[in-house]
Amino acid sequence: MKFLFIGDVFAKSGRKVLADRLDKLNSIYRWDVCIANAENAAGGKGINYNVADEIFNSGIDAITLGNHTWSRKEIFNFIDSSNKIVRPSNYPKGVPGKGRLIIEKNGIKIGIINLLGRVYMEPNAECPFLTADRDISILKQQCKIIFVDFHAEATSEKIALAQYLDGRVSAVVGTHTHVQTADEKVLEKGTAFITDVGMTGPEEGILGVDKAVILKKFLTGLPSYFEPAEGRTCLNAVVIDIDENTGRARSIQRIYESYN
Ligand SMILES: [Fe+2]
Ligand SMILES: [Fe+2]
Repeated sequence: MKFLFIGDVFAKSGRKVLADRLDKLNSIYRWDVCIANAENAAGGKGINYNVADEIFNSGIDAITLGNHTWSRKEIFNFIDSSNKIVRPSNYPKGVPGKGRLIIEKNGIKIGIINLLGRVYMEPNAECPFLTADRDISILKQQCKIIFVDFHAEATSEKIALAQYLDGRVSAVVGTHTHVQTADEKVLEKGTAFITDVGMTGPEEGILGVDKAVILKKFLTGLPSYFEPAEGRTCLNAVVIDIDENTGRARSIQRIYESYN
């Protein structure tokens, strides 16, 4: 079973890339399931109902989130009722939404876990390692395939989690930095891994944001209002082939597409 996982979809231009490009890409890569990180999908921060709907209509089966989960207050109106949106599982107890979920495709149940890193990230997240242990033991009862989006800053924390989960989940994909890394591999016990998938949307800004805005912030320290960058766009993703009988990954392939 083939998966396409798409790195942080950023603002309108990221959504347009999904709408315009996925059909053609699927004729090449032929995935069965498509998951996208969409924590930046609405104007570059957070997500709202219409934006989520637009993304699902582009052929996405499930959405993962990250540190921008709560950036738009509309999220509280629909996150509890969605069976296709997963937010970080290691948020403190009592927050809305689901940190793990099961989707079904072609009669196969797929477990999805979203986790937030703690190194240079939000201090109130619980331990992603222990949260993964808990979620895997629950999902394992129903799913051979478990897919983890680890939304984290530090490369060391991402590699450590992937090694910790090797052989227990099908894939650990890193998100959040918006910069694709060239270290995709299938680990020793069959878990596909990449430190960061990258981002989908504006290619010419700074991590998706207009470069003048970010440069002013670095040069003056003054607060700034993020504007998505214009110009060229890109799609960053990985295709992962998973044996549905064992849950082990067969291969992982990195995709970086650039568009005028
Ligand atoms: Fe992001
Ligand atoms: Fe993030």
